[in-house]
Amino acid sequence: MSSLEIPTRPFPDQRPGTSGLRKKVRVFQQPHYLENFVQSIFDSLEGIRGQTLVVGGDGRYYNRTAIQTILKMAAANGIGRILVGRDGILSTPAASCVIRKYHCFGGLILSASHNPAGPEEDFGIKYNTANGGPAPERITEAIHAHSRRIERYRIVEAGDIDLARPGTSRLGDMDIEVIDPVADYADLMEQLFDFDRIRQLLGSGDFDLRFDAMHAVTGPYAEEILVRRLGAPTRSLMHTVPQEDFAGGHPDPNLTYARELVDILYANDAPDFGAASDGDGDRNMILGRRFFVTPSDSLAILTANARRVPGYADGIAGVARSMPTSQAADRVAAALGIKCYETPTGWKFFGNLLDAGEVTLCGEESFGTGSNHVREKDGLWAVLFWLNLLAVTGRSVEQLVNDHWATYGRNYYSRHDYEGVDSEGANALMQSLGQRLPDLQGGRLGNYEVAYADDFRYEDPIDHSVSEGQGIRIGFTDGSRMVFRLSGTGTQGATLRVYLERYEADPDKQHQDAQAALAELIRLADEVAGIRKHTGREAPSVIT
Ligand code: G6P
Ligand code: ZN
Repeated sequence: MSSLEIPTRPFPDQRPGTSGLRKKVRVFQQPHYLENFVQSIFDSLEGIRGQTLVVGGDGRYYNRTAIQTILKMAAANGIGRILVGRDGILSTPAASCVIRKYHCFGGLILSASHNPAGPEEDFGIKYNTANGGPAPERITEAIHAHSRRIERYRIVEAGDIDLARPGTSRLGDMDIEVIDPVADYADLMEQLFDFDRIRQLLGSGDFDLRFDAMHAVTGPYAEEILVRRLGAPTRSLMHTVPQEDFAGGHPDPNLTYARELVDILYANDAPDFGAASDGDGDRNMILGRRFFVTPSDSLAILTANARRVPGYADGIAGVARSMPTSQAADRVAAALGIKCYETPTGWKFFGNLLDAGEVTLCGEESFGTGSNHVREKDGLWAVLFWLNLLAVTGRSVEQLVNDHWATYGRNYYSRHDYEGVDSEGANALMQSLGQRLPDLQGGRLGNYEVAYADDFRYEDPIDHSVSEGQGIRIGFTDGSRMVFRLSGTGTQGATLRVYLERYEADPDKQHQDAQAALAELIRLADEVAGIRKHTGREAPSVIT
């Protein structure tokens, strides 16, 4: 088998963002584009020759094509062995699980998460390290630097590899093992959660569940775990066949994009529990009967109740949340006497804390929750955690949340997104707000007294790396906050995110609609940042 060295020239736009390199499929389809990036990964990682890598993705359009190219390049670059999911499928948390379980050197995950898929839509690729988590910035920067000076890539000449059946084959000097994409992950879930109790709940005849895989990767995982291992009736699952274009949908589990599921959970004869996951299986949305659990509350509730679940029965070491996530988890941590870390947006910032054993659970407002069982956020894990809690407490979702608020107080919370706005306007907003921060210090905004106003800077407590410019926070003396940041995951224009939070200790005042409870802060956010002026938008495009 001949190995070729193909001359190439750098592309200027291969800097990985929050979650790897994400671009339109058309961009990836340019001659040498994917190859340049993959070669940059191989060339940036010392000691990769002879090692085992994991490869798989969310099944979106271009997944299979990209995997064939990656396999041929891996063989030409001296990689020892590749574990690849059958049909090229591996959810992001399952990829993380496989990297860890088989002590692999790392893995390539092909996904653009919840972004729409298809020939005109998005594709993405990211590198995860041996701990199973997204590569830290030091590595992604090295990959980017290499992509700016690349002159050649290596690839073997070979026909396509059959990925349809589990088994081992060889490509040049490299072994390829096609693995069942679900089994290792399902086994891990079975170790963490009380499957007997969940099985009793699901089989009791008076508990009705709906899980929406949104035509994306979690379908086969939900079928194996919820139906085959836990006995839920098949009608509990929706849209479980992964499609290359996610059936034209936008598989982002929130109140806007998971509308069909939300409508079912808000109908008169609504099921007891509803949940959805995103394109690559790492996000989750949790619903009760006519009840929505914010991801921030979900993290706080899982933290408060962790000991009820076998995998966390010994208690948790600490908890971490991203900066814009509400401070509900902080209150639980304080009560439990454990630490709560505040990190920048992006799951990769949890990796060091998890590896060092500083935290056991972590979560983000962006519908991500997870633990030290893998190094990615994990959609089905969160669903099983909730089912486990419902099974052992006998409470409903709404009751569990109300109990929680009564004990810890409620952090009213909402995120307002202005999607696809003009980048110049969005940057101008952030810049002028940044300039106003010194004036805001110690002053007032409406009835609120400003406690601090800054641009969030994070120093990693483990490796002491520093990340600047992670979003503008204006905190008030009563614990309320507003946060402004620009999305790091969009592929078109800019997306402004405004995060609003207000604390309410009085149980009699904890049952308002979040938008009503936050109305004053919403008005003040526009006033202080000039949202309408800079974006030209009268209202957010998505409210969660
Ligand atoms: C991805 C990351 C998350 C992060 C989110 C933020 O989903 O995996 O860790 O919270 O992006 O996206 P944004 O668009 O707000 O930058
Ligand atoms: Zn995702």
